[in-house]
Amino acid sequence: MVNRGCSLLFIIIYAFIFCFGFSKPQMVPAVYVFGDSLVDVGNNNFLPLSIAKANHPHYGIDFPTHKPTGRFSNGKNAADFIGEKLGLATSPPYLSLVSKANKNNASFMGGVSFASAGAGIFDGTDEIYRQSVPLTKQVDQFSTVHEEMTKEVGAAALQKHLSKSIFVVVIGSNDIFGYFQSSGLRKKNTPQQYVDSMASSLIVQLQRLYDGGGRKFEIVGVGEVGCCPALRLKNKTECVVEANYWAVKYNEGLQSMLKEWQLKNEGIVYSYFDTYAAIHHLVQAPASYGFTEVKAACCGLGELNARAPCLPLSNLCSNRQDHIFWDQFHPTEAASRIFTDEIFDGSSGYTSPINMRQLVTA
Ligand SMILES: *[C@@H]1O[C@H](CO)[C@@H](O)[C@H](O)[C@H]1NC(C)=O
Ligand SMILES: *[C@@H]1O[C@H](CO)[C@@H](O)[C@H](O)[C@H]1NC(C)=O
Repeated sequence: MVNRGCSLLFIIIYAFIFCFGFSKPQMVPAVYVFGDSLVDVGNNNFLPLSIAKANHPHYGIDFPTHKPTGRFSNGKNAADFIGEKLGLATSPPYLSLVSKANKNNASFMGGVSFASAGAGIFDGTDEIYRQSVPLTKQVDQFSTVHEEMTKEVGAAALQKHLSKSIFVVVIGSNDIFGYFQSSGLRKKNTPQQYVDSMASSLIVQLQRLYDGGGRKFEIVGVGEVGCCPALRLKNKTECVVEANYWAVKYNEGLQSMLKEWQLKNEGIVYSYFDTYAAIHHLVQAPASYGFTEVKAACCGLGELNARAPCLPLSNLCSNRQDHIFWDQFHPTEAASRIFTDEIFDGSSGYTSPINMRQLVTA
């Protein structure tokens, strides 16, 4: 009897370790995500008129379900990996939580993603066509969520919850692309005015999140946008220098405004990630990360697989692990995983003033 009891206990303990031992402990109460297609986990699938959707093959081919999910990736994206690092499930899309199916039982306390492919810091013309939810509108949605959570747990508990949660903001690339595609914008603003205005407009939205209770911010700068396959087509497969130059200028302006913003507001902690430097290093030294193809997209058509979007009939590379770019604009799962490792541990020195691991305990 004793022996059997013992071995049963042993089995239970063993099962417990097996089931839970490998999952990471939850490090923060929740993650609230704002941004564009780099972190969209399915919001745009709920925009009936939007064509900015990753709801068809070959998107999702390496996702655990092997099905398209709305992520602009062959598999997971940075939002998923950030969740994993923090021991949390990926924050679900806001538009799924308020959809008919979930309306009555959804909670926002476990985190929400407001990110929408095509979104910019500025409300673009795409808003008219309801192609995406721009940042301002994402923050409006957060205000709605804030009211709901206040009803659910009360103001004091909510403040505590939000002050320990992480607010992730990944945006700006679409504004830069927009500027170089629109002669109207170029006539109205010099590039310097434009990138300054991007950064100051972002701070306005961050301030709204702070006023709503956010304290811990993960802010991701704009990447080396001139080197994505779509832009390389404009320069004989080389990077477009001007787009990269203004991405850097924007990032510089943003970093100095973030410092000022922190000084003006009690209790803000943030980690800034220099995506530009991170991608630049991947493109310069791909072999050290296991990549062999830095220019061409994995999924697409024509030169660099960048003449057409990733569609069911597009070419698909056989090894998604050796490509940095998945489609015309977006990184592969493999590249996103590397960026997230760097965001979290700051191992390559691309985070300032602290990395995300320090942000958690700050
Ligand atoms: C809400 O309930 C429905 C029906 O039971 C279920 O399918 C859905 O997954 C639930 N949603 C959430 C967010 O728990
Ligand atoms: C095209 O690429 C070359 C080589 O990197 C660079 O010198 C040149 O400035 C680029 N042109 C444009 C328009 O970006």
